[in-house]
This record gives sequence, C-alpha cells and structure tokens, in this order.
Amino acid sequence: MSQQPVDHEVTLQSLLARVAAAATVEDLRAVAREALEQGGVVATLLASIPTLPGPERKAAGQAANRIKTELQAALDAKKAALEAGALLASRHVEGFDPTLRAPRAERGTLHPVTQVVRELEDLFTSMGFEVLDGPEIELDWYNFEALNIPRDHPARDMQDTFRCDPAGQLVLRTHTSPVQVRAMETRRPPIRAIAPGKVFRQETTDASHEHTFHQMEGLVIDEDVSVGHLIHTMKTLLRGVFGKDIEVRLRPGYFPFVEPGFELDARCPFCKSGCSVCKQSTWIELLPCGMVHENVLKAGGIDPTRYSGFAFGLGLSRLVMLRYGIDDVRHLLSGDTRFLRQFHRIG
Ligand code: DAH
Repeated sequence: MSQQPVDHEVTLQSLLARVAAAATVEDLRAVAREALEQGGVVATLLASIPTLPGPERKAAGQAANRIKTELQAALDAKKAALEAGALLASRHVEGFDPTLRAPRAERGTLHPVTQVVRELEDLFTSMGFEVLDGPEIELDWYNFEALNIPRDHPARDMQDTFRCDPAGQLVLRTHTSPVQVRAMETRRPPIRAIAPGKVFRQETTDASHEHTFHQMEGLVIDEDVSVGHLIHTMKTLLRGVFGKDIEVRLRPGYFPFVEPGFELDARCPFCKSGCSVCKQSTWIELLPCGMVHENVLKAGGIDPTRYSGFAFGLGLSRLVMLRYGIDDVRHLLSGDTRFLRQFHRIG
C-alpha cells in the first residue's frame, strides 16, 4: 500500500503553517512560489502523476488538487488580513477600523404624490397635453377675477384665502385653476394642458383638511369641444389611475368659471355594494369639472363664439389617498420617513 496520502497531508499542513506565520505579503508570495509555481511541491506532485502506477493516479491527482485549493484559500485570506492590518496601521486613527462594514446608505423614495403626478403626466402627454406650471403666489386677478369670481362674489368665501399683502393683490393660490387663464394668454387654440401643483387654504386641519394640498387642473380648448370629450377624458384618466374601466356619472355642480358645471362621480373602485371609502354609496365624488365659462375665455383672450372648452380640477391629494388607502391627509406633508418608506419606488 502507498503511504502517499499521509505525505500529502503533512505537506499541506506545513504549507498552511507557513502561511499562518507569514508576517508580510512578501512572505506569502514566497510560500506561493515554492508550492505552486514550476518546480514547486504541488507542481512537482502534479507532474509526477503520469509516472505513477494506474490505480494510484486518481488519488494522487485529488490530493494535489486539494493541497492547491486549500493553500490558495489560506493565502487569499491571509493576504486580505495583512492588507487590512497595513491599512489600519497607515491610518493611525484611534478607533478607526477600515475593516468594519460601512453603514448601508439609505435610499430615498419618491413621494406618493410625485409618483401619481408622474403617471398622470405620462398619460396626458400621451394624449397630446402639455404639462404647465404656475406661480404658487398668485395675483388676485388670476386666482379670482379672471375666473369669473369678482371681488364681492360669494364664491370667494368657498375658499379661505391666505393673503400675502395688505392690498390683497397677492394670494397663495387656492386652486390650480389660475393656470388655465395663464395658458390661454400665452397660447392659441387648440390648447390641451394639465397643471399639477400645490394649493393653499386657510383651514383648520384635520384628517381630511390640510392647509397645503395638491390639485391638478386640466384644460382643453378647441372648436366644437363638448361634454362628450370631457367624459371620455375623465374616463381615460380614471382607467390610468385605477388600472380598469370605471363607470362615471355627472351631477350638476356650481363653479363660477364653468357653465354648465359638474361634479363627476366615479363608481367606487374598491367594492361592489358599498364600503367605508364610498360611504356605502358605491360612488366617489372625485372631479369637479365643466365647460369653460365664456367670461373666462374672454379674460384669457379667446373668442367664445369660435371656441369652446372644458376644464377639470382633480383633487390630487384625495386621489392619492384613495389609491393607497391613506386615512389622514396630514401624512402627506408630514415628512415622516416611516410613512414615506411604504411607497418604495425609485425613479
Ligand atoms: N378650482 C376648483 C376648486 O379648487 C376645482 C374646479 C372645479 C376646477 C371645476 C375646474 C372646474 O377646472 O371646472 O375648488
């Protein structure tokens, strides 16, 4: 019987002992050279295999490979340890350990309102709409007058306004509708635009009221625009948000800047026969809208005898709450990362 397996083990153990004793990377290189390079123990062993009697070749080959693998692993581990030690020594900073794992950087998430706005922007731009922006500090003219809400109009009371100057010319916009007028002033029909953004109201806050929230205004002006176009656009919007066709109904609604004005209700996307979201009615009041009032067209410099249009004022904050089942509007602007982390999506 051959004694070779014992010899191999001895060879391996003595090589490993030298690796363990190595004080520098150079020592390790010497061990590697002697063992693995041409003329080294392992190389010699491998070279001798063809000269062995047939039955011993397999065992000798396995033994050589085992020495090679284990030695290489020991060399790599020791090298990493020596390098880390060298780095530590070179830093000379008390208490600094470069071998410790760095804390994982926290990844940010997109705010749920931003996520929904981006989806809606994609949807509407695919239908040929532009995405517009308007000032959050707005002139009284755009926020009220040009929207057919004169100074003594009772509708001003519907929106509790933050005023920014003693003369009352500047306000924090109470809705995104002023962007309609700015759009008409700067473009000729056909106009197709949406304007998502923040709006502000002087309100006592509770689970469904916040002083700052989000809306998205929509405006279409062209020849022969009808309520049919409005309904179709709203159904497309709802399909985009809820991922399925949603039945809608129009009820009369009063807003000074549209005539006729509507409240558009959507069939509750969460139930068939009533739930807490739709307050057991199966309908959700979602979208005030209407045909743009001729006074507003005129204020925007558009000829109402030639053009007509529709507008809608989507309550974005409310839509986001519905979509994600958020029960308190105040979460949205709380900046609480425990809340925000639940809406993990990047980009
Ligand atoms: N601006 C209205 C509000 O904030 C919402 C609105 C209603 C917008 C009807 C519209 C509309 O464009 O047609 O209460």
